[in-house]
Amino acid sequence: FLSNPGPLMSRASAIPSLVLLTGAGISRESGLDTFRDADGVWSRVRLEDVATPEGFERDPVKVHAFYNARRHGLRDPEVVPNAAHLALARLERLWPAEVLLVTQNIDDLHERAGSPAPLHMHGELLKARCAACDAVLPWADDLGLEDRCPSCGAEATLRPHVVWFGEMPLEMERIEAALTACGVFVSIGTSGTVYPAAGFVSLARRAGARTVELNLEPSHGASLFHECHHGPATGVVPAFVEALLASAPGL
Ligand code: APR
Repeated sequence: FLSNPGPLMSRASAIPSLVLLTGAGISRESGLDTFRDADGVWSRVRLEDVATPEGFERDPVKVHAFYNARRHGLRDPEVVPNAAHLALARLERLWPAEVLLVTQNIDDLHERAGSPAPLHMHGELLKARCAACDAVLPWADDLGLEDRCPSCGAEATLRPHVVWFGEMPLEMERIEAALTACGVFVSIGTSGTVYPAAGFVSLARRAGARTVELNLEPSHGASLFHECHHGPATGVVPAFVEALLASAPGL
């Protein structure tokens, strides 16, 4: 996969030399829908209604029900991390200081696969946030929109801890710092249609990183990558990790 790992494994570096970005495609073979495939989430519900601040303002009950249903879906015993999640977690365990995993996904499959600290730039399905004090708390099933915030006591200020369209993704400074200093950027299971994540490949490439796309089919940004490997994530991701480990100097 990587003809020359280049500065990938500068072990001394405190800045991650390998940045991984995942999207809904990595969770597809675990049974979770993607967004823009033919059977995707946005083919069944309008994103304007459930993934914008205006939609939440208009009908908080509908939005609450939408995320509750997705949270229950995540608890389906059939929904478990797949070989792609596990391969990335293995990489993070072997190179804890060098790998930064950024995900657009709000599911917890990376955590359940053993990833130590996935950076959820679009938030997390299993957490709620208080719009008054910004406290983030686990979303318990009995938590309702009318409940008081356990942290500041404000009433009816709880919302899903999910980044909606028009809102700023989380931890962007940390992500951009890693992208401008990494040796390799790998984009996995994302259509490359939603910014700022869709722009990460250009940022990394301008900074001199090798850029790799692992996706079922060419994404919108496929031509921006040095290397593309297309196929189901459970095939191309473990193969990529194996090749990377085989090519890494001095491990
Ligand atoms: N293996 C690998 N890739 C797959 C698989 C699979 N089994 N199945 C589908 N894919 C690919 C699709 O080809 C597509 O390119 O995953 C990508 C999924 O794209 P989207 O549905 O657009 O999901 P994503 O890119 O994660 O969306 C980004 O948009 O709606 C917002 O906040 C939401 O985080 C999401 C963001």
